[in-house]
Amino acid sequence: MNIAVFDSGIGGMTVLHQIRKLMPNENFLYYADTAHLPYGEKPKNELKKYIFEAADFLVARDIKALVVACNTATSAAIEDLRQNYSIPIIGIEPAVKPAVIESQSEMKKVLVMATRLTLKEEKYHRLVERIDKHDIVDPLPMPKLVEFAEAFDFKPEDIVPYLQKQLQPFDLNQYGTVVLGCTHFPIFKDIIQQQFPKETHVIDGGLGTALNLKHTLERLHQIGGGSGRITYFKSGVEVKDTETLAHYDQLLKKLDAMP
Ligand code: DGL
Repeated sequence: MNIAVFDSGIGGMTVLHQIRKLMPNENFLYYADTAHLPYGEKPKNELKKYIFEAADFLVARDIKALVVACNTATSAAIEDLRQNYSIPIIGIEPAVKPAVIESQSEMKKVLVMATRLTLKEEKYHRLVERIDKHDIVDPLPMPKLVEFAEAFDFKPEDIVPYLQKQLQPFDLNQYGTVVLGCTHFPIFKDIIQQQFPKETHVIDGGLGTALNLKHTLERLHQIGGGSGRITYFKSGVEVKDTETLAHYDQLLKKLDAMP
């Protein structure tokens, strides 16, 4: 049986990469809904339709769990998905809690980078209300990072000017933790880190999601049984084109090489 990993595009591969490190003996179906990207700029109701199309497609295949490796899709639809399917469904949300605990003790602030929709959603606001008692959390949408990633453009000379422009209104010395609340963003983790003082922590929820999946499958005695094979789909069509598959492979290698 497979583990399905789903995102609007290649962002979910940052989560897939963490899952593969923890659970090498699994087979994966990776689904990128590229026909409807970017999720972060779409109205929630439209998005839900796309998310259910993808989930229906994956659940009809031989899967033992569905990982919604997209903060935006999690915030828009995770509860509805859980009500509709009986397999385990693991989501990802911005790692605000560990960030607040860490930064509060250092008398610093937290910057949450995510998509516009994630930052607008009630799920995010409830999370921040519950945790951010001293008003130290600031949101920052970064939609263009999704575009750069989808174009496989990882060149610092393209990314850095955009980061500088977005970060220009903020006093970066104030931030103890930067939360990467969109699964596309860890691809640029090293470049983002370089914009902040060395002591600033840049964190994301990929490993936590992978651990959550592992514990869930262990509890259900459903761990293992695969060989690490990944089958890729773009909006319901299997990816067979060798150039795209080579790009995916390169991205996984790039993520493997990151600290
Ligand atoms: N990777 C997705 C996330 O984690 C969203 C990217 C998009 O806007 O499509 O939120």
